Amino acid sequence: MNIIVVTGASSGLGREFALQIDRLKLKVDEIWLIARRKDRLEQLASILTCPSRILECDLSNEEGISYYKKILEQETPVIKMLVNCAGFGYVGQFQQITLTEQASMIDLNCRALTQITYLSIPYMKKRSRIIQLASSASFMPQPGFAVYAASKAYVLSFSRALSEELRKDQIIVTAVCPGPVKTEFFERAEKYGTSFTFKKYTMVEAEQVVQKALNDSLRGRTISVYSIPMNLFYLFSKIIPHKCILLGLRMLK
Ligand SMILES: NC(=O)c1ccc[n+]([C@@H]2O[C@H](COP(=O)([O-])OP(=O)(O)OC[C@H]3O[C@@H](n4cnc5c(N)ncnc54)[C@H](OP(=O)(O)O)[C@@H]3O)[C@@H](O)[C@H]2O)c1
Repeated sequence: MNIIVVTGASSGLGREFALQIDRLKLKVDEIWLIARRKDRLEQLASILTCPSRILECDLSNEEGISYYKKILEQETPVIKMLVNCAGFGYVGQFQQITLTEQASMIDLNCRALTQITYLSIPYMKKRSRIIQLASSASFMPQPGFAVYAASKAYVLSFSRALSEELRKDQIIVTAVCPGPVKTEFFERAEKYGTSFTFKKYTMVEAEQVVQKALNDSLRGRTISVYSIPMNLFYLFSKIIPHKCILLGLRMLK
C-alpha cells in the first residue's frame, strides 16, 4: 500500500497540503491525516477524493508516537511522502511563557518531528519525499519568539543534514520556511504578546506557500522559501551579521 502522511492536517498548512496533494492525483492508496481534532480531520477526509485514514493523536506525548509506530508495523506501507506540519509557537518574552508551554513547543516542533521522521524512513523507497515545516523564524535568533525560532532552527538544520544523508537513497528532504501565513497559528501564538507589525504586512495565504513547497520538493530543493520579502530576509540573514539585524529590529519596535 502506497501512502502519504500529513501531520497537523486538521488546519492551516497541513490541511492545505492534504488538499493540494489530493488534487495532484498521485498514485497512492491512502492519505494518512494526523492531528488531535478528529472532527476537523473527518471534515477534511470527506472532501478528499483519495481514500484517507484518520490518526487522531497527540504527537507531543509518547502515546501518540507509539500509536503511529504501531500502525506502521501493522500496515507496512510504502510512504511516498511525509509532510510534517504539526507545530506551534508562542510569541512573548522567554520568562513570560510558562515552562510547560516552552517545553511543549520543543516537544512538538523538534522531538515529535524527529520521531515521526525516524519512524517513517524505513518505510520509504527511492524518490520518496519528506517535507518539514520549519519557518523563516529559523533564519536568525528572534527575541520575543526565542524558543519557537530556536525550535525551527533545529528543524532547518536537521532537515539539511538529513537531506545529505538520504541523497544516496534518493529520498528528497525539503525544509519549508514561510514567513507569516494566514492560518490559526497566530490565534494560539499571540496568547502572551503580539507579533511585529511588519509581520502583518508580509502575511501570505497558505495556498501559495504549499504550492511552492510541493514544486520545490518535486524539483529536489532542500529549502523552500515563498515570497520576495522572505527571500530577502533569508538573503540578509546570510550576509548581514545577526547582531546588526537584531539592532535594527530593536529600533523598529
Ligand atoms: N502560520 C504561520 O505563520 C507559520 C509560519 C511559519 C511556519 N509555520 C509552521 O507551519 C506548521 C503549520 O502551522 P499552521 O500555520 O498551519 O498552524 P495551525 O493552523 O495552527 O496548524 C497546526 C497544526 O498542528 C496540529 N497540532 C498542534 N498540536 C498538536 C499535537 N500536540 N499533536 C498533533 N498535532 C498537533 C494542529 O492540530 P490539532 O490542534 O487538531 O491537534 C494543526 O493541525 C507549524 O509547524 C508552524 O510552526 C507556520
